[in-house]
Amino acid sequence: MKIAIMGFGVVGSGVGEVVTKNQENLINKCGESIEIAHILDLRDFPDSEFDCFTKDFNDILNDPEVGVVVETMGGVNPAYDFTKKLLLAGKHVVTSNKELVATHGTELLALARERNINYLFEASVGGGIPIIRPLYSCLTAGEATDVFGILNGTTNYILTQMFQCGESFENALKAAQQKGYAEADPTADVEGYDTCRKIAILAALAFGKALDYTKISTEGITKITADDVAFAEKLGYAIKLIGHSTKDGDAVYAAVFPAFVPKNSPLAGINDVFNGIIVRGNDLGEVMFYGRGAGKLPTANAVVADVVDAIKHKRVNVIIKWDAYDEKHQSQGENLAYAYYIRFSGKAPANIPGSRIVAFSDDDRKAEFAVLTEGLTKSALEDVIKSTKAAGCELMSCMRLIGE
Ligand code: HSE
Repeated sequence: MKIAIMGFGVVGSGVGEVVTKNQENLINKCGESIEIAHILDLRDFPDSEFDCFTKDFNDILNDPEVGVVVETMGGVNPAYDFTKKLLLAGKHVVTSNKELVATHGTELLALARERNINYLFEASVGGGIPIIRPLYSCLTAGEATDVFGILNGTTNYILTQMFQCGESFENALKAAQQKGYAEADPTADVEGYDTCRKIAILAALAFGKALDYTKISTEGITKITADDVAFAEKLGYAIKLIGHSTKDGDAVYAAVFPAFVPKNSPLAGINDVFNGIIVRGNDLGEVMFYGRGAGKLPTANAVVADVVDAIKHKRVNVIIKWDAYDEKHQSQGENLAYAYYIRFSGKAPANIPGSRIVAFSDDDRKAEFAVLTEGLTKSALEDVIKSTKAAGCELMSCMRLIGE
């Protein structure tokens, strides 16, 4: 099978490496060899072992021998235009591009279905972890109730460095970039946008409804301070950037937030670039997926596995579908309750409504205390904060608890 790669960055070059290195294994798995016929990239790669570079997309589109195209360009444009043209031309497309899947996945999947070909995107969430295929294949019998977890390797690496080595946020980010984990613009990682796109994809697969990811409440890790880390340690928690999606009646809720995760939860032990995703279902109970969530070769492995799957299903559409976006389907979670960690400065009032635990700062120079609450809706949380502020305290930070 002749394939093409569009975008020869970290993941695209990893695909080249994985295909070359594992030829024999790939022949065993899909019954034929995989030959890279074209690599599309605007840059030059004079030292590359490959000699099939092109700057013209039409070389791929118009090559009748190319049956599967790998899209590792990232971003919506021109990846969207290229993907549509390729699917219309009857070529399978496999991608690691979460932004494109989260934005136009509904349409691209429908196009692939009409043409009896495949649009596959295992590498778009969780790097090398199988999570997309389990959601549309192994876990389809019962109803999912929750999907949540650590979906971004860069931020998990940064938080691990901050917790375990007392490293500054800036230094930890630089190290993550050097290791090739971070997005080109690290804002997408640290502000939670990358996790937001990933949870939108998982929510669509788990609950069968497309969400508008621009309407997903998204908070990153840039406001977490050493004081929050100290309180988390004191109270027996880790802090993780979490993507969470759940049913809210007939609608679906999704959010991205830094959360206190109890040390005895499996998510708390997920460190460095690793991701962990928990799926809860009515009959299923709880399953967890764990592995390298970013990085060249783990992500390329997921891409190449999709190439193999496309070759195995050359003339069969593997049905992956969800309902198109409808604003009625997307909940803003007003009625959902979460427990919270809230840090205040000032003298703790004798009675804080909704609180279960109150802890005081070990730093004598700081008159600070932290509260762990019971499950509160957003408006109940606002009431707790308002009444504590009325007692003369200042709100310093507030994070949800998850995984208890
Ligand atoms: N920047 C992403 C991460 C890459 O750190 O998880 C994988 O999607």
